[in-house]
Amino acid sequence: MISLKSKKKRSNSSRAWLTRQLNDPYVIKAKEDGYRSRSAYKLKEIDKKFKLLKPGQVVVDLGCAPGGWLQVVTERVIGGAVFGVDLQEVAPVGDVAFLQGDFTDQRVVDSLLEQLNGRLVDVVLSDVAAAACGIPAVDSLRITVLVQHVAEFCDQVLRPGGSLVAKVLRGGTEKEILVGLKRKFSKVVHFKPESSRSDSAEMFVIALGRKNTQTDPHK
Ligand SMILES: C[S@@+](CC[C@H](N)C(=O)[O-])C[C@H]1O[C@@H](n2cnc3c(N)ncnc32)[C@H](O)[C@@H]1O
Repeated sequence: MISLKSKKKRSNSSRAWLTRQLNDPYVIKAKEDGYRSRSAYKLKEIDKKFKLLKPGQVVVDLGCAPGGWLQVVTERVIGGAVFGVDLQEVAPVGDVAFLQGDFTDQRVVDSLLEQLNGRLVDVVLSDVAAAACGIPAVDSLRITVLVQHVAEFCDQVLRPGGSLVAKVLRGGTEKEILVGLKRKFSKVVHFKPESSRSDSAEMFVIALGRKNTQTDPHK
């Protein structure tokens, strides 16, 4: 167990957070393996189970900063095209095309559509997280709204048969998300990777086989 030795003044909660980070096996592993975030292992587990990422695909990663998921995607989607979107800047990752902005803003979507130049997307990933306020019902509702935006984003860019991975929070509204997505995808399940902290309400909704109900945004 590594404990904090620095005399720097910190609140109890920030000391607890830092101590947990220093001792988290996935934080340590991410450092050793050169990943920018421990989240990289969540996507690896998701992909191991659902086999979503394949060479030559077009993949969009929403809420991609600092870039751990992008690193995993570029390892697997050899010869494809990878796009990342985030409010925050992201240091370059391979050939990833990065758009800085809010993915719920239609101007950002339009800019992506322009770069896609007529292609549709095979896989949409969303690890988007709204700043948590700590009230479970409010945080869960916030992420539900974000996932609804992610689903609308898919309406515009995802090809029929394509897949979606989106972070949700356990706590009341995840069933509604499931029902909404089941109308648009052939198979929708929840998955909690082992690398997702057991004391976190976070889990992922995996939606496979987008139904052919959308209109082509490029037409
Ligand atoms: C948990 S982090 C993602 C970590 C990332 N998957 C990785 O492996 O490095 C969530 C990100 O979502 C971004 N975010 C939140 N709301 C957003 C929005 N409306 N549009 C774009 N990015 C957003 C945040 O800026 C944050 O960087």
